[in-house]
Amino acid sequence: MKKTLALILAACMSLSLVACGGGGGSDNKGSASSTGGSQPAGGSQGSSASEPAGNGETKTVGIAMPTQSLERWNRDGAYLDEQFKAAGYNTIVTYSDNKNEQQVNDIQNMLSQGVDLLIIAAIDGNGLNTVMNDAGAAGIPVIAYDRLIMNDNSSYYVSFDNYTVGTLQGTYVKDALDLDNAAGPFNIEFTAGDPADNNAPFFYNGAFDVLKPYIDSGKLVVPSGQTAFDAVATDQWQTDVALDRAQNVLASFYSDGTKLDAWVCSNDSTSMGVTQAVVQDYAGGNTVIITGQDGDVANLRNIKDGKQSMTVYKAVANEAVVTLDLAKAILDGKTADASLISASGWDFDCAFDTESYETTPGNKCPSFLLVPDVVTADNMEEKLVTPGYYKVGADGYLEATNG
Ligand code: GAL
Repeated sequence: MKKTLALILAACMSLSLVACGGGGGSDNKGSASSTGGSQPAGGSQGSSASEPAGNGETKTVGIAMPTQSLERWNRDGAYLDEQFKAAGYNTIVTYSDNKNEQQVNDIQNMLSQGVDLLIIAAIDGNGLNTVMNDAGAAGIPVIAYDRLIMNDNSSYYVSFDNYTVGTLQGTYVKDALDLDNAAGPFNIEFTAGDPADNNAPFFYNGAFDVLKPYIDSGKLVVPSGQTAFDAVATDQWQTDVALDRAQNVLASFYSDGTKLDAWVCSNDSTSMGVTQAVVQDYAGGNTVIITGQDGDVANLRNIKDGKQSMTVYKAVANEAVVTLDLAKAILDGKTADASLISASGWDFDCAFDTESYETTPGNKCPSFLLVPDVVTADNMEEKLVTPGYYKVGADGYLEATNG
């Protein structure tokens, strides 16, 4: 009863807001808000642009992205919007400025506007219970996009294999330092992601699990002693937060000339802060191995310049393709399991996983997981330019294809 009342109240509030804004009352489905940010680049096409099945009415999909302040979400929002529109759906796209409250409101408004399906990249995986319960009560399916939502009304999860992202970072460091053969010891530090993001511990544990045996044997040393996730986490993945902590660590543990060999960063926004600190404040003459994730344009520049060593690239164009085909299946009342992959014709790998992700203890969320890849200065053009994700700009650095 409570949930229903809340939903009706929210619907009334939202409709009056829309009416004030001249949105046209109840027939405003698909009045897409701004997608902003960079234009989508090329990518694998796995979906036919067929008319959505149904009784003639165009269906509306709500796409809730976390923020425009981090490059990748602009790409995700643009790809999703473009692909759903090309397939004949109406879309509503929102970015919520990394504020959970705002994302709750944005999703509530989408429900009020009568969306048929929600795609949500959560700012706080634990912060959406009210709207998730409302969506469940209204029978609206929810695809948790990239980040799991810790609510049992998450119908499906589409992401990359998050633990593997971390193992790729850890393995890169292991190989670059030749930990199995070199005498060592080597000094290393860690920077992880946002504790509110369910992905962040997966990335961190993936990397740490690869490197832990060498820490245990003494071949790797962490001079700061900071290895617990909470000690190395970065609120909202912010570059400035990562920069501050890196400066403190360098000042406290390396200003006496201690050599820094590697710094594992879970993604590119944190890598950006750590790289800046190392460039400015680290006195040693060696190249510090620094990892990342996402292939953000500014980080690709740093990689080309030798300031960052690698990034784990996740083809978000393909993540959008999987999301579209999954959404179509759900909205058409078709089976959405491993058979979706075999029938898809996708030209990239994706696994159907019913074990790895739980929304609440014991409640597994069926997941479609794509495969991340390592990008370095040496393979950047092969991995990113050849498939059409980026192009080489006039200055020799990579830039977004249509940006
Ligand atoms: C994660 C996402 C990463 C990275 C990070 C910061 O959830 O999987 O690709 O973008 O958020 O936005």
